Amino acid sequence: MQIFTNPAEMAAQCRQWHRDGDDIALVPTMGYYHAGHESLMDWGRQQAKRLVVSLFVNPTQFGPAEDLAAYPRDFERDSAIAASHGADALFAPAPEDMYAPDHATWVEAPALAAGLCGKSRPIHFRGVCTVVLKLLAITGADVAVFGQKDWQQQAIIRRMVRDLNLPVRIDARPTARAEDGLALSSRNVYMTESERAQAPHIRKGLLLARDMAAAGERDGEKLRQAVLAYWSGQMPLGKIDYLSMVHPESIEPLARIEDRALLACAVQLGKSRLIDNILLAE
Ligand code: PAF
Repeated sequence: MQIFTNPAEMAAQCRQWHRDGDDIALVPTMGYYHAGHESLMDWGRQQAKRLVVSLFVNPTQFGPAEDLAAYPRDFERDSAIAASHGADALFAPAPEDMYAPDHATWVEAPALAAGLCGKSRPIHFRGVCTVVLKLLAITGADVAVFGQKDWQQQAIIRRMVRDLNLPVRIDARPTARAEDGLALSSRNVYMTESERAQAPHIRKGLLLARDMAAAGERDGEKLRQAVLAYWSGQMPLGKIDYLSMVHPESIEPLARIEDRALLACAVQLGKSRLIDNILLAE
């Protein structure tokens, strides 16, 4: 596996692969790998001749009060993991390699970024879209792989790709979970023992809503209230940022399940902001 930090050198290598007739899969990451990242790499490995993993803690998607400085990092371990999952290249630029001091161009999809995580993280998705577009431009990837845990993120990226006619396929892969159901996240390491013990109830609450929906409940507010009541009993340390039912593609709020519906949440457990979601109707 080759390690690139310079965007021009990474781009030159990708152009060469394309000239050789090799297609390219990109797995964009911010590092501190867990089994979820590994499953995205494994999927990417199967989709194209060449696999590029990018490792970049993108400063523009963190708000001023967020955890950019504290975000967990372990370059040696991450590069060994990427290599062991068959990456041909690890692209690990420094922030100054990606953003000129007078960087002035942003990409955003405000209609999809207003709700859910976008409400409490107003600049987040602008930073995500901009960096993902840059990574796609640098690598010329034929397919890019994301996780369904960040459902809103993959919906926004799909929309950006469609709206800007980007020649790339977006694959979104199922959320990897701990045995007790907690969605794997690099931010799980911030939790204390008692917070971690309560965290699996996030998923259990969402499953309760799915069972109610499967039994015929269509009213979004009734589903929400049932989950909130469950959480307040089982997860007293959790502070609910949001629990919302939305259309999985447009991310528009839904009052009732008519067609497709996603229930998505963000819960603060101590220093960890944990997100998860579940499809109530597909
Ligand atoms: O999901 C992430 O890890 C990040 O938002 C991404 C897609 C790598 C962009 O920085």
